[in-house]
Amino acid sequence: MQTLIFAHRGASGKAPENTMAAFKLAVDHGADGIELDVQMSNDGHLVVIHDETIDRTTDGTGWVCELSLEQLRSVRAGHRSKIYKREKIPLLSEVLELLQPTKMELNIELKNNLIPYEGLEEKLINLISKYGMEKRTVISSFNHNSIAKLSIICPEIEKAILYEMGIFEPWEYAKKVGAQSIHPHFHNSSRSIVDRMHKEGMSVRPWTVNTDTEFMEMLEMDVDAVITNYPLKMKRILENYYK
Ligand code: G3P
Ligand code: MG
Repeated sequence: MQTLIFAHRGASGKAPENTMAAFKLAVDHGADGIELDVQMSNDGHLVVIHDETIDRTTDGTGWVCELSLEQLRSVRAGHRSKIYKREKIPLLSEVLELLQPTKMELNIELKNNLIPYEGLEEKLINLISKYGMEKRTVISSFNHNSIAKLSIICPEIEKAILYEMGIFEPWEYAKKVGAQSIHPHFHNSSRSIVDRMHKEGMSVRPWTVNTDTEFMEMLEMDVDAVITNYPLKMKRILENYYK
């Protein structure tokens, strides 16, 4: 199988991370999938943003979990960019709408490792089924309790454990949690882990693979996908690699 390219927070090397502009660019650049981060507003809406506060990526301030959807939508998510200054914090439903008519895959990372958003998993599943995206979505999280919960309430959707430090026999651990794949930091990926994961019928998608050298290393390992800020660059490298 050819290694797939997932755009990390959209094509975030070229447009503000986790904005509709970055997601549309990923579609235009021919990415196979999109990775994004999801949290919940204080009135229960699923929004796409990486940090627990809006301070770094918008011109507003405060905790996502303490702000209403209206407040979150009133700030600008591309304020540092001349081209993309009108971008807002997207709703997850907007991204689902964008991807539904395409053939692209979606990696929804739940950012619930610091804030344990009550009911987040249930709301997420409802939304994925509303758009019929069950077969094209993989849900990941650094919060493995959340993945274990999802494995019970939605066995039909693929789940991945996210990790940065090494895990002993990750294929065994992933199975125990109820995940079908692993999303390790690329430093913690190896040919032997990938081979063993494949033998178990499981997938490996390392992050964040941004340089040509890192990407070549991942291709040599035969990973299922890489998660990158530069989908267009990686697509071009891939064309020559498989020639
Ligand atoms: O899902 C892969 C990667 O996005 C995990 O780290 O901090 O970029 O969300 P982070
Ligand atoms: Mg992420």
